[in-house]
This record gives sequence, C-alpha cells and structure tokens, in this order.
Amino acid sequence: MSFDVHAFRAHFPSLTSGIAHFDGPGGTQTPRPVAEAIAATMTAPLSLRGAELPSERNAERVVAGFRSAYADFLAVPERGVVHGRSATQLTYDFSRHLSRSWDPGDEVVVTRLDHDANVRPWVQAAERAGAVVRWLELDPETALLRMDDLDETITARTRLVAVTAASNLLGTRPPVRAIADRAHEVGALVHVDAVHHAAHGLVDATALGADFVVCSPYKFFGPHCGVLGADPALLETLRPDKLVPSTDVVPERFEFGTLPFEALAGATAAVDFLAAIAPSSTRRASLEAAYRAVAEHEHALLTRLTDGLAALGDRVVNRSRATDRTPTTLLELPGHDARAAYRFLAARDVLAPAGAFYAHEAGLALGLPESGGLRIGIAPYTTEEEIDRLLDGLAAFTTP
Ligand SMILES: Cc1ncc(COP(=O)(O)O)c(C=O)c1O
Repeated sequence: MSFDVHAFRAHFPSLTSGIAHFDGPGGTQTPRPVAEAIAATMTAPLSLRGAELPSERNAERVVAGFRSAYADFLAVPERGVVHGRSATQLTYDFSRHLSRSWDPGDEVVVTRLDHDANVRPWVQAAERAGAVVRWLELDPETALLRMDDLDETITARTRLVAVTAASNLLGTRPPVRAIADRAHEVGALVHVDAVHHAAHGLVDATALGADFVVCSPYKFFGPHCGVLGADPALLETLRPDKLVPSTDVVPERFEFGTLPFEALAGATAAVDFLAAIAPSSTRRASLEAAYRAVAEHEHALLTRLTDGLAALGDRVVNRSRATDRTPTTLLELPGHDARAAYRFLAARDVLAPAGAFYAHEAGLALGLPESGGLRIGIAPYTTEEEIDRLLDGLAAFTTP
C-alpha cells in the first residue's frame, strides 16, 4: 500500500502549528484518537478495578486492552506486558530485580552505543553486586558496534547483556540477534532497549532474541509511559519487594501502586492508531503492513535528506554511517556550534535539536563536542517540503 502523508497528518492537530518536527526521537506529536482515548477514559465512570459496576469494569477493560495491545505490539504473551512510568524506570526496576542473584565475579555486558537508560542501571547494579562490567565498543568511523571481540566480551560468567535495537543518536541498528545468540549460548539474559527502534520498526521479542524488551509509547504517538515485554515464565522467577496487601501475580507484581488507566488507554490507542494505517486480518498483521508502508515513506525522505546533505559538501559531516539504521541522522557542522544551528533553524520553524541525547557513552566515543551534534529525526508525518526547508536552513546557516 502507499502511504498518504497528508491524510496521515490530518490526525495531528498540533501539526497545524507550521513547525517542522525533526524531534521525533525525543517524542512524537499526538494524534486526535490518542488524546480522545485519554479524555474518554478520564470522563467515563472510572474507579478501581472490579466486576460489579461500570466504573470498575471500565478500569478492568482498560488494563486488559493495554495488555492485549502490547502483546501484539511486542509479540509477547499478554501476561508478559508490564507498564512503567518510563523505559528508564522499568530498566532501573529490572536491574534491581535481576541483580539480586548476581555474585561477585559475575559479569554484565553493556554497549557504548546505548542510551544511558540501558547502561547506567546495569553498571550501578553490577557495582553493588561486585560484578564486572564489560563493554561492546562503538567504532566512531562506521557508527557500528565492534563485533570482532564478541566472544571475549560475553563469557561463561556473563549474567546479562543489555543492548539497544537502534541508537537514538545515530540510528544504527546493531546485530541484536547475533549478540543475543552469543549471550544465550553462555546462559546470559538479554535486555533489549527498543525505545528508538519501535518508532520505525515493528518489535518481535523472539526474533530479536530479547528476554526483556522495553519501549516508550510517546515515541510512537502515545502518552509518556514505558512498556516492558517478557516471557511470563521468566517474570515468575523474579521477586521484587512488595507491599503486604498488594498482589503477587504476574505481571502486576512489577507494577507498583494504582495503574494510570488514562495512560494505558492512550498507549493502547497509539497501537490501534498505527494498526489503522494498513488494516489487515489481525492487529499484528495490520501493524506489520503499517510499518512496511511507513518505512518506505521514511526511506524515501531519508534518501532526499542524504542527497541534499551530500550537496552541501564538507559544510556538514554526517556521522550516521551504518547501512542498517533508522531514519535518524546525526550531523556535525564544522566550525559551528550545533546549538547555534538548532537556534537558527528554530527561527525558521524547523525543530532539529542539538546534543548527545543521553547517549552519553556514544557521544564520548564519537568525540562529540559538549554541545553534541544536530539530530534530524524523520517521523511518519514528515513531508518532502519539510526536508527541503531543513536543507535550505542548513545551507543558509553554513554559507561561508
Ligand atoms: C533509545 C532510548 N532508550 C531509552 C530512552 C528513555 O526512555 P524513557 O524516556 O521512556 O525513559 C530513550 C529516550 O529518549 C531512548 O531514545
């Protein structure tokens, strides 16, 4: 199917502002059906979950709907879907749950490509347990993880490997499956950060080799929250601290306090909104078709952007050199501060932020200056006209 970007944009009231949003990797704009689902949940009768009254049944239905939507979205069982305040919070929580069984001398593997949300929780948990931290290194020239020393980095002592499915700074999609296969060979668990990936590619936890996978609905049109997916049998083996009266069932065991029903309803609506791009026999099949259509649209825009950048010659340096990557591009502008470029573009209603975007280790490995680089995130609602406006702005900014 072909993707009609103008029909798609009509769902987003905020896009009439005229701002060209290249800040999708930081969070997307919100379509009407998602906002309406949140409002409808809050204005309908709503109470604690139960079966007696409509308000109780509404709460129950919202939670069941959320589990079902993210089971389809992540390709995990419904009982393996955990809601969290954010991907960062979920990763911190699970780093504490998992590290309870780590011993001094055990090993944990993290990467220099990842957002710090999938690095620091593991490093800090390892420090507390006396475990050793090993790193998969980033090659700054190719923007790829170095895979040549994978077997030496993941060893018989490795308990957990944390890796991103796509870098929010460079767009690079590392070979997660190969890394996961090596981890499983030695009996380690694999925690995959799919926060950036999920905005551009449909997640399949099994295909990735992920024992745990996290995403954040606000990166794909939903509200600000996080979702973790895992095999319920694996979740059964983990015993977080709990309140005496609170339930011990999976997955509620990992969700502390009363669930934010409105956020769950909005997160479900985001999945349904994506699925409605290309309706098919099941929601999963619809999502597959929708992601294919969106990927084609984004790829065409990325080619337009990349060609336009090439025409600027050495006035811009494109650091996103991986072949397998999302349509997220990191630029350096020799002789210029990225923040100045961001401000110059903002004056033209073009939002392309500057920084390292919490990909702290990647920023260091790339040798980025303190102001970072200029990040250009193409989203499903991005148009050719916006790419041209961005390129015109960059040409004007870098004119000698
Ligand atoms: C790749 C990646 N991982 C993790 C996070 C953190 O997500 P959250 O804001 O849900 O904690 C982000 C946020 O930008 C991200 O881009």
